[in-house]
Amino acid sequence: MPPALPDQAPFVLRAQVLTPLAAGGSRYESDGVVVVDADGRIGSVGPWQADSGPVLDLRPWLVLPGLVDLHVHLPQVPHAGLGFGTPLLDWLQRYVFPLEHDFTEAVAEVVAPAVFRAFAAAGTTTALMYGAVYEPSLDAAFRAAEAHGIRAIIGKVMMDRLTYDESHRPSEVLDLSLRQSADLCDRWHLRDKGRLRYAFTPRFAVSCSAEMLRESAALATAKGAYWQTHLAEDRAEMAEVARLFPGARDYIDVYDQAGGLGPRTILAHAIHLSDREVARIAESGTRLAHCPASNLFLASGIMPLGRYLEAGIGVGLGSDVAGGPDLSLFGAMRVGGYVQNALRVASGDARPILDPLGWLRLASYEGARVLGLDDEIGSIEAGKDADLIVVDPELAAPPAAPEPDGPADLLSRLIFRSHPEMVRGAWVRGRRLEGPIDRLDPPLAHAGGPAAGA
Ligand code: GUN
Ligand code: ZN
Repeated sequence: MPPALPDQAPFVLRAQVLTPLAAGGSRYESDGVVVVDADGRIGSVGPWQADSGPVLDLRPWLVLPGLVDLHVHLPQVPHAGLGFGTPLLDWLQRYVFPLEHDFTEAVAEVVAPAVFRAFAAAGTTTALMYGAVYEPSLDAAFRAAEAHGIRAIIGKVMMDRLTYDESHRPSEVLDLSLRQSADLCDRWHLRDKGRLRYAFTPRFAVSCSAEMLRESAALATAKGAYWQTHLAEDRAEMAEVARLFPGARDYIDVYDQAGGLGPRTILAHAIHLSDREVARIAESGTRLAHCPASNLFLASGIMPLGRYLEAGIGVGLGSDVAGGPDLSLFGAMRVGGYVQNALRVASGDARPILDPLGWLRLASYEGARVLGLDDEIGSIEAGKDADLIVVDPELAAPPAAPEPDGPADLLSRLIFRSHPEMVRGAWVRGRRLEGPIDRLDPPLAHAGGPAAGA
């Protein structure tokens, strides 16, 4: 075993390598070499050869692209796992708003660095996040992301009705929230050559006036930033939106009328949609964050993923912590796989939607594509930024396991038998992220999965 993982590019890894490819399909090297150049980009990927030169030999570990989480609530992470089965609107009042209410700058300074380390330990190197409503807490979150090295897109949550912010009169909130969001965008969007970015973040139609939706969308367009919100997650939420926006044809029309649809918009959940809404999302180039673990945790519903993919909609994966109980996108892939299997059985449609490689693609390359960052990240290909993770597949193996027969089996184990310590290293642009257990000695629960040694 080598002494340590490299902290900084340049370096050369010898390991198993598995990645989706921009052109479609995937690449697997059972004994591969990934060259990371001094500028933090991938110089080359290929099979190891006797003349490959000096390498850091990580075999039998596996190099994967860093995962892309398209939907997660930073202040909610400490409550992950609480409130199972509580309907969305009750859950927000009972669990979420009190927590976000207390997400001050001082709290953010403690929570955000710990969350970014946890992301890296889970294999996530890019995350699109919601903050809370307080501007200073967003600055603290961005500072923490800047220091940690994760690729972070964050937005101040905007709410001018149904809010927990007691520090301002309702009449002040619209202007203040727009101004603070614009200022945060000016301070942080595209910092560190685009590693940090801003997303205007009106929470959802239930908590925002039509004016807040419209003005925030206009700001996002003017500043070339993202716009993110929630869509059609829960039946009671949808009834409330219909009540609040009687002039809208349906839920998506609320955001359409606000000028919110388009390729820089990421809508989370999108579970309960009419054919018209699906067509409008596809036509406008609007993107979706699929959060299967959250959708089951809060009993929100089942997203018809196959229908959206067939419509040509860009979809990636989100953990939606704390709606989802787990920061790990391996967990989201697992639950997503189970859910689509259940849907298949229930509908009698025998076509498998995504195999394990398809789920990896959704959690990496498609996530990057949703963000418009697919030229830079999402796959391990020459010229891209070295956003990489290394995983120890033996931690996911059952006792007396045979060698996996090819990349689909290898990945199937990682998704369906994930081990919390299996991600051993993570890099963004060739800079190692703090978080994964960085010892190279065997972890305690080696061979036998999570319960071994307990
Ligand atoms: N809809 C509005 N806010 C939220 C939130 O914080 N989590 C989830 N899952 N849905 C929401
Ligand atoms: Zn959410």
